Amino acid sequence: MNLSDTKAKLSFSNGSPDINLPVYKGSIGPDVLDIRKLYGQTGVFTYDPGFMSTAACESTITYIDGDKGELLYRGYPIEQLAEKCDYLDTCYLLLRGELPNATQRADFHKLVLQHTMVHEQMQFFLRGFRRDAHPMAVLTGLAGAMSAFYHDSIDIHNAQHREIAATRLIAKMPTLVAMAHKYGKGEPYMYPQNHLSYAGNFLHMMFGTPCEPYKVNPVLEKAMDRFFILHADHEQNASTSTVRLCGSSGTNPFAAIAAGVACLWGPAHGGANEAALNMLEDIQAMGGVAKVGEFVAKVKEKNSTVRLMGFGHRVYKNYDPRAKLMQKTCNEVLAELGLEKDPLFALAKALEKIALEDDYFVQRKLYPNVDFYSGIVQRAIGIPVKLFTGIFALARTVGWIAQLNEMIADPDYKIGRPRQLYVGPVRRNVP
Ligand code: CMC
Repeated sequence: MNLSDTKAKLSFSNGSPDINLPVYKGSIGPDVLDIRKLYGQTGVFTYDPGFMSTAACESTITYIDGDKGELLYRGYPIEQLAEKCDYLDTCYLLLRGELPNATQRADFHKLVLQHTMVHEQMQFFLRGFRRDAHPMAVLTGLAGAMSAFYHDSIDIHNAQHREIAATRLIAKMPTLVAMAHKYGKGEPYMYPQNHLSYAGNFLHMMFGTPCEPYKVNPVLEKAMDRFFILHADHEQNASTSTVRLCGSSGTNPFAAIAAGVACLWGPAHGGANEAALNMLEDIQAMGGVAKVGEFVAKVKEKNSTVRLMGFGHRVYKNYDPRAKLMQKTCNEVLAELGLEKDPLFALAKALEKIALEDDYFVQRKLYPNVDFYSGIVQRAIGIPVKLFTGIFALARTVGWIAQLNEMIADPDYKIGRPRQLYVGPVRRNVP
């Protein structure tokens, strides 16, 4: 780590001696204060629930400038990756640090696309779930179950195992998501087709049936691929931090990813895409665009528990760059499907316009995030609302595994173990 020119000194009012805290600088972004020796030297902990000011690790993978609204994967802007690369190029970049050359690209595509089939026994495991189970419940189970089906690659301290597990996860998550979808519908599972692209194969497994050939629509294929790129990683968000913390105990990668899936499910995180679409449908049912003002007023009420889903972000205090790309993708998909007049899209745009001009949202720097338009794209493609977060999970799997492997490869890594400010009863005796 590189020391910053800034010096930090911590003083106490109780007569304890001052201590100097090292300050490190990253390649971009805020400096960090190293407090690792704080407790040993002073006997106090820091207190930061919600990690409002705490960097939990050092990373070379993803950088967000929340004020500018900038997102970089390994230094490359998300806009350029979305334009010039496909999802598997992006996976290679996140996992290995550089974009692939032509040979590496061909090899990596082949490696992933030839490992898309899952163990045949998986379908019997799936059969234990209720058909109306939420796909995220199913997916949490399926991701965890991979450690039982692929137990020859679960040693997190073995670099080869980590690489095999990463490939298996990226290759097989789309198959598992599509199987969860087909199971819920009571339709036969579609085996993957290795000649198709990653996104094309996913559409085939989702919407194909054994009764007739399925032709992949290139506009929808591109939209799906872009969706995957935009969701591939997002530095130390809640689910990624969960994967790191879970993996820090030395548990296997599939178990750590299952923990990430479970965390992503929540509506404040990945579940926001489902919640945002449900919100739009509710407003539509109330009367559509004419009711936007009334809904926004409800959101703004003091002590309101209603939030404008798909709006706001812990890090972005500007337009989420992924939301812009998602809005563009939304235009392309709706035009291709002849749905330009989709009332939900019109409603989303009206809602966005009002919110962006409203003092409540302006003062709090609340802008649309990636989830605001992603639901409209997915719904237009034919994906059921309950599956939205599952598709986010499949796209984020590469980010989770890249971050987990980065942590494990760091010789200084330790099991994560937060401390607390205890405010419960002091020692007392049972009467
Ligand atoms: N609608 C209305 N008010 C909001 C919203 C919203 N979507 N988001 C934040 N606020 C208000 C909040 O009430 C608070 O106001 P006040 O200062 O008067 O108490 C202020 O803005 C700060 O909010 P916060 O909850 O303290 O901020 P946070 O950084 O803890 O939360 C967030 C970030 C994403 C959880 C939150 O903005 C939110 O709940 N948004 C809606 C859910 C959503 O779209 N989540 C997806 C995030 S992007 C994809 C992903 O991470 O998976």
